[in-house]
Amino acid sequence: MSFRYRSGSVELSECTRNPGFRDAEDGESEADNINAVAGDKQDSSAVKLDTPEEEYTQIKPYAGMPKEVLLLYSSRARYRVPREILFWLTVACTLALVALTITVIALSPGCLSWWQASPVYQVYPRSFKDSDGDGVGDLKGVLQQLDHFQYLNIKSVWISPFYRSPMKDFGYDVEDFRAIDPLFGTMKDFEDLLAEMHNKGLRLIMDFIPNHTSDRHRWFNLSRSRDPHYSDYYVWVDCNATGPKPNNWVSIFGNSSWTYDEVRGQCYLHQFLKEQPDLNFRNPDVRKEIVDIIHFWLEKGVDGFRMDAVKHILEAAHLRDEPQVDPNRPPELVTTEWDLYHDYTTSQVGLHDLLRGWRAEMDTYSREPGRYRFMVSESYDYHEVDKTMMYYGTPQVRESDFPFNFYLLDLPQNTSGLWAQQLVNLWMSNMPRGKWPNWVVGNHDRPRIASSAGPQYSRVINMLLLTLQGTPTTYYGEEIGMENINITDSEVQDPAGKYNTSLSRDPQRSPMQWSDDLNAGFNTKANLTWLPVHPDYRTVNVEVQKNVEGSILAQYRFLNTLRQAELPLHRGWFCYVHADENVFSYIRELDGLDRAFLIVLNFGKESATTDFSSVHELPDQLEVLLSTNHINDGRVLQKSRVPTEAGEGLLIQYSTHTRFNPTHPEECYISEKACYLKVIDILYKC
Ligand code: GLC
Ligand code: MG
Repeated sequence: MSFRYRSGSVELSECTRNPGFRDAEDGESEADNINAVAGDKQDSSAVKLDTPEEEYTQIKPYAGMPKEVLLLYSSRARYRVPREILFWLTVACTLALVALTITVIALSPGCLSWWQASPVYQVYPRSFKDSDGDGVGDLKGVLQQLDHFQYLNIKSVWISPFYRSPMKDFGYDVEDFRAIDPLFGTMKDFEDLLAEMHNKGLRLIMDFIPNHTSDRHRWFNLSRSRDPHYSDYYVWVDCNATGPKPNNWVSIFGNSSWTYDEVRGQCYLHQFLKEQPDLNFRNPDVRKEIVDIIHFWLEKGVDGFRMDAVKHILEAAHLRDEPQVDPNRPPELVTTEWDLYHDYTTSQVGLHDLLRGWRAEMDTYSREPGRYRFMVSESYDYHEVDKTMMYYGTPQVRESDFPFNFYLLDLPQNTSGLWAQQLVNLWMSNMPRGKWPNWVVGNHDRPRIASSAGPQYSRVINMLLLTLQGTPTTYYGEEIGMENINITDSEVQDPAGKYNTSLSRDPQRSPMQWSDDLNAGFNTKANLTWLPVHPDYRTVNVEVQKNVEGSILAQYRFLNTLRQAELPLHRGWFCYVHADENVFSYIRELDGLDRAFLIVLNFGKESATTDFSSVHELPDQLEVLLSTNHINDGRVLQKSRVPTEAGEGLLIQYSTHTRFNPTHPEECYISEKACYLKVIDILYKC
């Protein structure tokens, strides 16, 4: 052993070559030490060290030193203190990080789900795109046009029914809930479409029709022949072929909702066509069948359902007559939906339990990240807005993500700023707290808004839709300003139109206008489209409008893209600032964010100049980011004089440090309060 220590309390059981380890007192050179180590390699005698604190002052630690020596070093203050400081620092930082993470998670508002982030675009498949030239649109046609959704920045697509169907109500009469009608394609076409939609980041919402089936459905055939299992699948009541009907209930399409069936010798209930018998939801087997069908499509991967005609699902078992709106009207003249109060055929107790049950089924498929399954319900409750709001569920039990908000469909009744505000407010002031609004201005059942309000309002209506708080719904063609077609009696296809031409829904179902080619690019067969193409298709079409700066299509796309990019627009406060005969105006802002938007919409019949001087939160000068009247883009206006033409909408982006909502709580709504923290660029609940 080459190291010579006078004494020591530590034993070195084995020597190790160490250039940095030398005897301070003897002053031997490092080289000597190395040689000595080399020479003494076999020496295993121990060295005792008494006072390590003194002894080791000159000795450097070295790689491979024995544990005992290491311990001597490590207990010295110059090593121990920094080590302990580092240790406690690490502990403190870890705890701080955990606390910060928990705080951020607790304070973060949930991300918007896909059905909130994008408008829902409705495809009526008969009319969207015909890939095989039979005059009727189909699933392959939808597949061919997926780029259109991407172009518009639309992520959610609802496709009206494509189940196997005799097409008495164009697919709303389902013969087989698990099959695709050959007119629309095959199950493979559906699967290809769904896969490709998912590839492109698009979601597919299916129509689901629980209230009734087609009279050609297997269940109905078995039920009318009293098969023991299926006998009670529908609502059967004793009556005879020529005698009085079981009660005064009427179908939505007109006349009695009871039809005598020769095979069974009884009457069955149909709230729609006689070819659409109502299912009996008081039968547990029927309830189970419906749940199984929901599972079938969820398994296939569909992203949500639009629940059709839900208020009609249950009827009162006592079958009493419904009260007449006009009690003096002779009963034989009571033939339409409008003649009765539907106390016993709509919104019956138990309906919401059914829907909540379906919601729960859907939730079991919603658990994987990004696979949320969405549910929207269709119920026209007209003036009974409370009934509609019930479809949102309660804070304890969820139901629809939202019921369709059909109130804006009434906009054409009185185009004015005040009326627009009133309709918007009807929803905002009645919606349960924390729920998410939505806005519908058209669908396959209602005249196109561009026709009923007038084409001069199409753009301002799109601006309203895309700048309100909540999910916009766009019926195909609204993005290009499509209008109703005129239908002659001989052209009527819709069963409602066969009852009364003026009720026909054909005018709003004409082929989508893709280009100025033959049949507007819907298909390529001369004179073969299931409904006539609108004659305005040479200018009102996607292809032409894509190339026109400031077209309604370009504006739709701009507004939708902006809506998704701008926090104040998609999740900020919504505050009324002004409404009069012509103008409806509101602010979208978010606490903590300087950027805000003022929207000024002229729904009136005249041009107007609006004075916003009293709105102190607005800067004196306002720059127009987008006007529906393209030439006004970029104009700088004084806030005391903001001019709009009839049918013009202005989107103004401005910068302010003072938010409007804190001082005007009565004028403002928000679904989930979130604030923006610029320093660390996050949103948090506030
Ligand atoms: C819904 C549909 C409508 C259909 C009816 C019967 O209201 O939107 O088109 O005729 O249900 O299924
Ligand atoms: Mg076809």
